[in-house]
Amino acid sequence: MLEVKDLHSFYGEAHVLHGVTLTVRPSEVVALLGRNGMGKTTLIRSIMRLAQPQVRGGSLHWKGEELHDLTPHEVAKRRIALVPQGRRLFPSLSVTEHLTILKPASAKDGWTVERVFEMFPRLAERRHHRGNQLSGGERQMLAVGRALMIDPELILMDEPTEGLAPVMVQHLESIISDLGRTGLAILLVEQNLYSALSVADRLYVLETGKVVHEASADAVRKDQGPLMRFLGVH
Ligand SMILES: Nc1ncnc2c1ncn2[C@@H]1O[C@H](COP(=O)(O)OP(=O)(O)OP(=O)(O)O)[C@@H](O)[C@H]1O
Ligand SMILES: [Mg+2]
Repeated sequence: MLEVKDLHSFYGEAHVLHGVTLTVRPSEVVALLGRNGMGKTTLIRSIMRLAQPQVRGGSLHWKGEELHDLTPHEVAKRRIALVPQGRRLFPSLSVTEHLTILKPASAKDGWTVERVFEMFPRLAERRHHRGNQLSGGERQMLAVGRALMIDPELILMDEPTEGLAPVMVQHLESIISDLGRTGLAILLVEQNLYSALSVADRLYVLETGKVVHEASADAVRKDQGPLMRFLGVH
């Protein structure tokens, strides 16, 4: 469904992705592992067609359509949603407003504010709080809720559990697993192998802008050795 082939991305003259090839099939949860600075966010931003980085080689197909010449808005219209790294919110908008600016509150189809609140009761309790009054975990839940409001078929999640307390990490992992089971495809950037294994069907390891390893989660559960070597963990 998502097919990235031999992708080359640049920030100015800095060549960051050196021919990345990766696929996400319908309803599949795929983890993208790799240490800091290896190009994970650059790949996610390339797929979303954000202004930076520039994609100067390779192809990005979604259901057979090339995404290269689309704007981020047009990519979102094709039901690809982004949960960006760093969970930026609008400081002065309430939780409900964050969810409804993407879709009218009266909408009845697909994901609604009420459905997001059912998934995250904590957000329902905080519905009138503003972006700058939320904890890290609440912000991340809201970022996921916002992504769901476009009724995605694919969500790109960039380190959603980064910097969160362990109980919040577990909570988000179980939400991500639940979402995966509803048939949503997910490309999850994750630095922690065990977190990735708890949710993903398949894993890729990115190293300095290249995929250096690909494996099914089942294969990694049986033998973590090869993957550990590619992650630089001994
Ligand atoms: N806006 C930018 N301008 C120039 N170089 C950048 C920019 N953003 C990232 N880079 C560089 O591109 C490389 C890949 O960065 P990227 O943010 O994709 O890594 P990452 O794998 O997401 O890391 P992390 O796990 O820390 O989020 C790094 O060398 C980084 O310094
Ligand atoms: Mg990153």
